Amino acid sequence: MNKKETFHIQNQEIHIQGDPLVFWPSPHGTKALGGNIRINEGESVLDIGTGTGILAILAAKLGGKVFAVDILDEALECARRNAEMNGADVAFSKSDLFSTVSDGPFDVIIANVPQELLSPKIIDETEAEIVTGMHGGGDGSEALRRTLAKAKAHMAPNSRLYVVVYSMSGWRGSLEYIVKNYKVALLDFYSGAVKSFIYDDLEYYKNEDTIGMYLKGDEYWADIFVFELMLKD
Ligand SMILES: C[S@@+](CC[C@H](N)C(=O)[O-])C[C@H]1O[C@@H](n2cnc3c(N)ncnc32)[C@H](O)[C@@H]1O
Repeated sequence: MNKKETFHIQNQEIHIQGDPLVFWPSPHGTKALGGNIRINEGESVLDIGTGTGILAILAAKLGGKVFAVDILDEALECARRNAEMNGADVAFSKSDLFSTVSDGPFDVIIANVPQELLSPKIIDETEAEIVTGMHGGGDGSEALRRTLAKAKAHMAPNSRLYVVVYSMSGWRGSLEYIVKNYKVALLDFYSGAVKSFIYDDLEYYKNEDTIGMYLKGDEYWADIFVFELMLKD
């Protein structure tokens, strides 16, 4: 039975039906971004790594003309179904980040790309599609770094790029890259308990210096920064 939930974000009601192989909306990335993105009526929006389609559907409900991509067929199928169920007009396409995106510049780009560092043991034990949905590559920040580098070509001077930096990845490097390359507005900052899979290989994570994970009471926590980025002048 596929998971189902109704999300309430920015006064919009969004019905989502999941798929076991597709990333389920998370408090870390999905809700943190969803609560902070600003879309004006009629703006063109690109959603990179759409997953269940939740942020694309939100953007459409907020008045955006939305184009959404994912590298996984399962995600695109799931997102198409959800868009239809919500009466949201979203165009979908398969793409490795921006590889098949020829339109633009976009007024808004939303990119909740994978940004977890998965340990070799966890990668070994997890289905490939789930790894694709979560693992950022390298120190966990490669997908974000590639996104930040490639997004510029699809932006105009007033375009806004929305991303999160999650400290369960090479977050210091991501922050440095963002500050060097973009005009930066920090929209929000959250701290929260890490996902439960971390405890399956806790020693690996405790010894991994690149990530920012800390003990709070008897739980491990991490931090999330939510950014609105614009091209530098
Ligand atoms: C962290 S999930 C976010 C899903 C959704 N945007 C959300 O906020 O719930 C990342 C998504 O990016 C997709 N993805 C991973 N690598 C990708 C790539 N190279 N190009 C496009 N999408 C990718 C995954 O399949 C997954 O659906």
